[in-house]
Amino acid sequence: MGQVGSTLERRLEGKVAIVTGGARGMGAAMARRLVAEGAKVVIGDVLEAEGKELALDIGPDVLFVTLDVTSAQAWAQAVSAAGEAYGPVTVLVNNAGILAYGSVDVAAESDLRRVLDVNLVGPFLGIQAVVPTMREQGGGSIVNISSAAGLVGMASLGAYSSSKWGLRGLTKSAALDLGRDRIRVNSIHPGGVRTPMAAGAEDSAFAVYALPRIGEPEEIAAAVAYLASDDASFVTGAELAVDGGMVLGTLPPAG
Ligand SMILES: NC(=O)c1ccc[n+]([C@@H]2O[C@H](COP(=O)([O-])OP(=O)(O)OC[C@H]3O[C@@H](n4cnc5c(N)ncnc54)[C@H](O)[C@@H]3O)[C@@H](O)[C@H]2O)c1
Repeated sequence: MGQVGSTLERRLEGKVAIVTGGARGMGAAMARRLVAEGAKVVIGDVLEAEGKELALDIGPDVLFVTLDVTSAQAWAQAVSAAGEAYGPVTVLVNNAGILAYGSVDVAAESDLRRVLDVNLVGPFLGIQAVVPTMREQGGGSIVNISSAAGLVGMASLGAYSSSKWGLRGLTKSAALDLGRDRIRVNSIHPGGVRTPMAAGAEDSAFAVYALPRIGEPEEIAAAVAYLASDDASFVTGAELAVDGGMVLGTLPPAG
């Protein structure tokens, strides 16, 4: 991947962002990118050791807070910690997510409930936690990390796909509810991306797609930075696939 950061504008100067699930994977790349563009970032995650180490590595513009996105109380603490450290939150990236596999006929009910709790209830609570502050600030940007699995069906991913379609729907409703407050709400739909969640996935698994390779976390982070920034000032309720064309369909095998 080309190095991001060297030619970046500081589009996010003055913004304070919370990135959930930011201790590793895509969220870590998002934290780096938002800071590179001038934002102050609070990483909220359940992985304390990784989160603290990452925050130290990125520098003084990043604070790690322990946040289980399924807890409204933890959300209130995270928003207040962000306010004390950097000022009122104006950007929220609902990125934390978990995966569960299982064909729908045999999948465990407990897996469905857990996945919905983290991937859908978590962002819902996050939106509720930041909206009062964003209103007071005269606006904000909320970016929900859904998935290609929130645009199409995927075998053995019923719980995950349900949560990501739900998050896409929540995004549209929230965009309608909050537009008068100048709070924009959009969703991003990554395809396969090289993170611990997709451990073991190789380019060959993507050979049938328009761009026949796995994505890099920085490529999703770039889309987050755009939607967080004022460059996207007229964009709300949108769904941005950053998936190498995965949801377009498949090409016939080469040769
Ligand atoms: N990697 C992919 O191929 C891919 C594709 C499409 C969408 N996504 C989505 O992108 C987002 C980031 O995924 P990733 O690939 O970086 O995965 P990852 O597993 O590397 O990172 C997810 C992060 O979320 C955190 N998390 C999990 N439960 C949490 C909770 N209850 N509270 C707070 N944090 C919690 C984890 O500790 C981890 O740091 C997820 O929403 C995922 O569903 C990933």
